[in-house]
Amino acid sequence: MSLHIQQNVSLQSFNTMAVPAQADYLTTVTSVPEMHDALSLARRQNLPVLVLGEGSNTLFEHDYKGLVILNRLRGMDVVEELGDLIRVKVGAGENWHRWVAHSLKQGWSGLENLALIPGLVGAAPMQNIGAYGVELEQYLHSVELLYVDSGEIGELSREQCEFGYRDSVFKHRHAPRAIITAVTFELNTYFEPQITYPAVKEYLQTRMRPSQELTALHVFDAICHIRRSKLPSPREIPNSGSFFKNPVVSEEKLASLREHYPEIVSYEHRGQIKLAAAWLIERAGWKRRQRDGVQVHKDQALVITNPGRASGASVMSLARAIQEDIAKQFRIQLEIEPRIY
Ligand code: FAD
Ligand code: EPU
Repeated sequence: MSLHIQQNVSLQSFNTMAVPAQADYLTTVTSVPEMHDALSLARRQNLPVLVLGEGSNTLFEHDYKGLVILNRLRGMDVVEELGDLIRVKVGAGENWHRWVAHSLKQGWSGLENLALIPGLVGAAPMQNIGAYGVELEQYLHSVELLYVDSGEIGELSREQCEFGYRDSVFKHRHAPRAIITAVTFELNTYFEPQITYPAVKEYLQTRMRPSQELTALHVFDAICHIRRSKLPSPREIPNSGSFFKNPVVSEEKLASLREHYPEIVSYEHRGQIKLAAAWLIERAGWKRRQRDGVQVHKDQALVITNPGRASGASVMSLARAIQEDIAKQFRIQLEIEPRIY
């Protein structure tokens, strides 16, 4: 076996929140046979297994008492061309943004609104990544899996992934027993703009000449620009993006909140009413507040940052205080977005 297993490894550079947790064991896997070897080893030694991409949606509240597998399975292969559609199978270890940029360069569109989301392709189905009016599920055809207990290979169709808002079967029935080894996308060979999001519309209106034809690359550039101006880069300030999900509420709940808070921010997406959690957190006075090296971001109240590279426990302590306060003030339970270990 060619696997290189390290012991007692710091995970600080493997999670974008930069918490200084440790893993008992860590290995990097670059092929499916290596993944099989890592799983057999874990089974023989009775070790729990955690697959990690870039750690941009993972918070280590504790040290990891098991084997962390860094997934680096590569490859981007066209598997089928179907008129206006193209199916491309992408290794779970490919960088998400690089894959999006590559797809657009080939003339395949659909993923332009999801540009610049940190992380690897294999983690994207876990929470059905989404941004600026588009969610992964719209362009995902199927997911290839490796079952941790049996070592068997499987495949799930889009329907079998049971996608929802920041949700999928991988967070429930398949967690943590299945490893995603590849994702097959179904993209368009023509361009259909999805620019309902006001910030995207405004950006394009100010940058484009009236006679200019809108392309997927224009949308890609707009999204990159907007994201860079709004969200802190984890390389500069450690963070995991939005720390809480935007709460989905009923029309009655929204109406009753509006009586007390007429300016409350809400929007509708794919039949659901969502509240802007950032607005609730800012309204409750948490923006910029810090504690033990952990801080609510100064420009985006939904992002918890860790400039002091504090422990996961310190991050969770601030997060729980925010949750309790929002529950008290608005009778809303904020759900944490990153996976906690
Ligand atoms: P990791 O953090 O490594 O893993 C996340 C979870 O998936 C863990 O439970 C892990 O065990 C599991 N996992 C990882 N790989 C596999 C695999 N191959 N098989 C099975 N399970 C696996 N998310 C959005 O949806 N929209 C956004 O706009 C967005 N913006 C962000 C902005 C910033 C600045 C940051 C830091 C994060 C943002 N995120 C956003 C969250 C994050 O980028 C996504 O959730 C991304 O998909 C995580 O990828 P990763 O490789 O870093 O996952
Ligand atoms: N707002 C405030 N205070 C703030 C920031 C925002 O009141 O400090 C209000 C503003 O009114 C703004 C509204 O909240 O219009 C929404 O803010 P924004 O457009 O920045 O989006 P978000 O709801 O905070 C969501 C996703 C992001 C995704 C963006 C763009 C969730 C949990 N977050 O953020 O995803 O990039 O929309 O689509 O759904 C992530 O999941 O990690 C993530 C970054």
